[in-house]
Amino acid sequence: MSTTNEIIIAPSILSADFSHLALSAQSAESAGAEYLHIDIMDGHFVPNFTFGYTMVKALRPHSSAFFDVHLMIENPDQYLGDFANAGADGITVQVEACLHLQRTLSRIKALGKRVGVALNPHTPLDFLEYVLEDIDLINVMTVNPGFGGQTFLASMLPKLTDAKRMADRSSRPILIEIDGGATLETVEAAVRAGANVLVAGSSVYGAKEGVTEAVRGLREKALATTLHTAGKA
Ligand code: DX5
Ligand code: ZN
Repeated sequence: MSTTNEIIIAPSILSADFSHLALSAQSAESAGAEYLHIDIMDGHFVPNFTFGYTMVKALRPHSSAFFDVHLMIENPDQYLGDFANAGADGITVQVEACLHLQRTLSRIKALGKRVGVALNPHTPLDFLEYVLEDIDLINVMTVNPGFGGQTFLASMLPKLTDAKRMADRSSRPILIEIDGGATLETVEAAVRAGANVLVAGSSVYGAKEGVTEAVRGLREKALATTLHTAGKA
């Protein structure tokens, strides 16, 4: 089934001011962002730390945005219930961290959360072939995970196209998310290739023009690309 033409903007609080996370979450929501992307890093799966489920719980009362929680951690199964109880709306696990991926995905579903799976740049999409019906969102990492502010890997564009084709083969709608290096310069190619959820950290929270303008700019660029692409279809 085809994914929709709708565009979802997901500011990543990894690039926000950690001393004012509630305000940062609110500014994204006021700017019209549908998701708040929350990167959880454990210093093992990726060479960096962020925060745990207690931070998600602390933020929950300050935002009604969809909490798009991205677990860049080893042994994610151990913490799925904690993140679900803390207020995650969607939980995305890294395929490389899951020895029994189908079991992990069904656990997320059983917790009533949108099921996401993320792939490191070198990881082939083939890992998803036989678990497609268990997935609501494919996160195509467009940088190596661990840090904000990295350069978008244009080599991931063919993978995005393949992910979109894969999603279209499913009987259910599957979102295609890009994560890393999303800017006004890179989203056009990403959306043309099939992305419809745009995670953006530094280009939103580091924007000189401010969060509202940055979110608006990304959406306008993405929607214009969608319309242009649809016009050619
Ligand atoms: C990278 C994270 C991203 C990060 C993106 O490991 O998964 O969500 O926040 O940051 P930018 O948009 O600055 O590349
Ligand atoms: Zn992320």
